[in-house]
Amino acid sequence: MDFGPSPEPRESRPEVAAAASATFDFLVVGSGLAGIYVALRLADRGRVLLVTKARLDVSNSAWAQGGIAAALDAEDAPALHGEDTLRAGRGLCKQSAVELLVQDAPARIAELMELGVPFDLGPDGRLLLGREGGHLRRRIVHAHGAATGYAVVEALLPHLVEHPGVTVWEGARAVGLLVDGPCCHGARVQGPDGLVDVRAVATVLATGGSGGLYVRTTNPATATGDGIALAYAAGATVADMEFVQFHPTAFALGQPAFLLSEALRGEGAQLWNSRGERFMPRYDPAADLAPRDVVARAVMAEMDATGADHVDLRLDAVPTDALSPFAPLFDSLRARGVDPMAAPIPVAPAAHFCMGGVVVDLDGATSVRGLFACGEVACTGVHGANRLGSNSLLECLVFGHRAAHAAAGMEPVRCAAAVPAVLPTLGAPERAALGERLARQAGIVRRADGLADARRGIEAMPPSMEGLVASLIVRGAEVRRESRGGHFRADYPVEADTWLGHLVARRGQPLHLESWS
Ligand code: SIN
Repeated sequence: MDFGPSPEPRESRPEVAAAASATFDFLVVGSGLAGIYVALRLADRGRVLLVTKARLDVSNSAWAQGGIAAALDAEDAPALHGEDTLRAGRGLCKQSAVELLVQDAPARIAELMELGVPFDLGPDGRLLLGREGGHLRRRIVHAHGAATGYAVVEALLPHLVEHPGVTVWEGARAVGLLVDGPCCHGARVQGPDGLVDVRAVATVLATGGSGGLYVRTTNPATATGDGIALAYAAGATVADMEFVQFHPTAFALGQPAFLLSEALRGEGAQLWNSRGERFMPRYDPAADLAPRDVVARAVMAEMDATGADHVDLRLDAVPTDALSPFAPLFDSLRARGVDPMAAPIPVAPAAHFCMGGVVVDLDGATSVRGLFACGEVACTGVHGANRLGSNSLLECLVFGHRAAHAAAGMEPVRCAAAVPAVLPTLGAPERAALGERLARQAGIVRRADGLADARRGIEAMPPSMEGLVASLIVRGAEVRRESRGGHFRADYPVEADTWLGHLVARRGQPLHLESWS
């Protein structure tokens, strides 16, 4: 089924001579967990350049709280982890990718421990396992309570920066990919000292997601979907962009929205509305531990019904000994003016994760030769229409491992001098206007008229990376006339079997629905 043309990137083609040049074996773009881990795995196989547009330690991964899911308990099994992942994905997970994810999880956790990640242990010296929404078993490993992402990044970074095979450029952003027909040979990078064309046998996009485009988000401002725009402009296939996950419990005061980890609800925290009613049991049998999309919509509905701009997260029902691992999180809340031991925590939903992205195979390869993607920028198919909590750091590791192996095995190909198509970025006022528009018209609840208005509004903006990513989200949301997982249409509020497929976009081709297995 075709749904009209895929969005057309609007780009400029500066002269090749404008840039200096550099050559490495491998180029990694982005410094979240996927980027750090892939660079480390490649470092023994050749010279690696990692570029990151801010500092090495600024990423969604470093901000990740909950943890990493793995079937480690005697009562658990990878197949059960797989069942929970598939159920959350609402019929759109790629089965083969889910199987790899859950089977490989225990080995990747063991590897992180060898690299020095200080996961929280119980008095018996065994890993403490937490619970999150949609998981029917305790299987979330965590560090410093809810500071898992930071602990993982902090443990891996010294291995990376001390490795003689790795060069890091901070403050350096990829502005276009060097493509020659169907092959990628590196990227044009805007660094502190100007433009450099970095040539590499394999280029790995690990730029993270696009939640930072939304005005209210748990993501850092750097999470603007750059890798999705770069890959799409270079001819790679992109899919599932309409599926955006909103986290139900982000602190209601301040920006970016500080996350109140789902692990708190895993230990018994409850959501109450401003009328003093506990509402989640009315929405789902799993109550506060229902899947994230269900909880986020319920929170929005309660805010609308009561006219309040937040609901309350209450800790009264959490056993005292279960609270102690969250001490660092509570200190961060006190620094923001709320003592969670003395008062309920005001929370509201915020954009959190992009289930779609650059389509890759099981080895992280995109449809462009020499171009790989892993982490949130990639669409491996493991999340389907809705990601299960704590499967995202896991995805970085499992598919990063495979992508590094495949990239290391690439044969160099001779290529012509490639002129990159360069996508500009928006200024601050346009970016803020785009964020407001996305939240209003392509947020938790969407409608045909709002999405059409969003599409026209984005088309009227100056060309940009951010606008291209936003148009892929909006176009997918406009076309998919049903509700599934992270995509809810008030005018088509139920799942429909005719939409059981992935909306695939490729420049110059019609947007169409595909089935994956
Ligand atoms: C959380 O801690 O609630 C977020 C974890 C995740 O998004 O996987």
